[in-house]
Amino acid sequence: MCNGLLDVLYHIPEGRGAGLRRDFAARLGAVGEPSRVSGVWRYAEMVMAAAPTDIVSFPEGNTPLIANARVAAWAGCPRLLVKHEGMNPTGSFKDRGMTVGVTQARRIGARAVACASTGNTSASLAAYAALAGIPALVLVPAGNVAMGKLAQTLAYGARTLAVRGDFDACLSLVRDASPRLGIYLLNSVNPFRLEGQKTIVFEMLQQLDWRTPDWIALPAGNLGNTAAFGKALDEALRAGLIDRMPRILAVQAAGASPFQQSFDAGFRARVSMKAATVASAIRIGDPASFDRAVRAIRSSSGAVLAVDDVAILEAQDRIGTAGIGCEPASAASVAGVRAAVRAGLIGPDDQVVAVLTGHLLKDPGMEAAAATPGVTLRNTPVEIDASISALEREIDALRA
Ligand code: F0G
Repeated sequence: MCNGLLDVLYHIPEGRGAGLRRDFAARLGAVGEPSRVSGVWRYAEMVMAAAPTDIVSFPEGNTPLIANARVAAWAGCPRLLVKHEGMNPTGSFKDRGMTVGVTQARRIGARAVACASTGNTSASLAAYAALAGIPALVLVPAGNVAMGKLAQTLAYGARTLAVRGDFDACLSLVRDASPRLGIYLLNSVNPFRLEGQKTIVFEMLQQLDWRTPDWIALPAGNLGNTAAFGKALDEALRAGLIDRMPRILAVQAAGASPFQQSFDAGFRARVSMKAATVASAIRIGDPASFDRAVRAIRSSSGAVLAVDDVAILEAQDRIGTAGIGCEPASAASVAGVRAAVRAGLIGPDDQVVAVLTGHLLKDPGMEAAAATPGVTLRNTPVEIDASISALEREIDALRA
């Protein structure tokens, strides 16, 4: 026993790239059962073989890949695209893992499901468990979950425990307790979650007509997604869906950067720390998928960067004023691209896909942003008298 996390290994349809690409294309825009319409189950050959009647799906995925010249110019990366995973049914990429995880829970007849969360995993688990009719238990750090996420988790009926401790304490508690209590654990330590999250990569590659970008940038917290991206790319290469590997850029918040610190030291040792950042979704000091994320960075010749809270909030603001709403943790990916361009790591002609992992409405957090020293929000409400003259002054200012 290695005490490491489990991975799903199965027969990759090697060298069947052209046939798979045709099958995936034929399913685009399909109507009917979720198992056909879903942007996760479209890639079933690369994810999980499940009977349509077992699949628990809203459906999810089918998120846009957006080219926005203003965001690209700000990042200094003309060929930047953003993949908006906040457009999933519960507003984050977690839905892609959860449809597979809860399908597996139903297949094995789980009596209850559980997770620890900074808020998005719990919102997603609560929704999919409700869809499947399985009771859900979630552990969140008391007072440290964005309101939108807490509201979802409660609305979807999960038993919600606010633990006096941080996310790392919640995860360690639920990992200890779930085998003893016979509850099926659905954090990303569960390998089926990662199988679903791989489809962020498959879908973006299909949107790019299977032409590999130079870089894929994503925010990194508990490192499940980084691990999933590495596995997806390895398997896409082996299946012949793509013919070269893009590089993964994992971006952490400076105050929650154990993976970046370890990367800077050549991954010689695992690092953990007490985490502090305005980006509550990635406020994680002891990431569970550390080892498999190291494999993802190594096999993609990737890199790990950290960006501070001011850079994260500035990125969120620039993305927002371009009409694209994402939560602070998500903006870390674009902030990381900007930092990597400035450092000369990403070249001016490189094509980069930055993943926006969660929706703006999850964590509007204007107060937190406004209270962070060094941050000036570009747009704030203007209070006026309820008079036509006051309104006219504003209209004149808008025209000027
Ligand atoms: N972005 C968002 C919006 C997240 O919610 C998370 C993780 C991440 C990025 C980081 O992904 O953990 O796979 O490295 N949120 C988890 C949660 C921890 O509980 O919702 P990761």
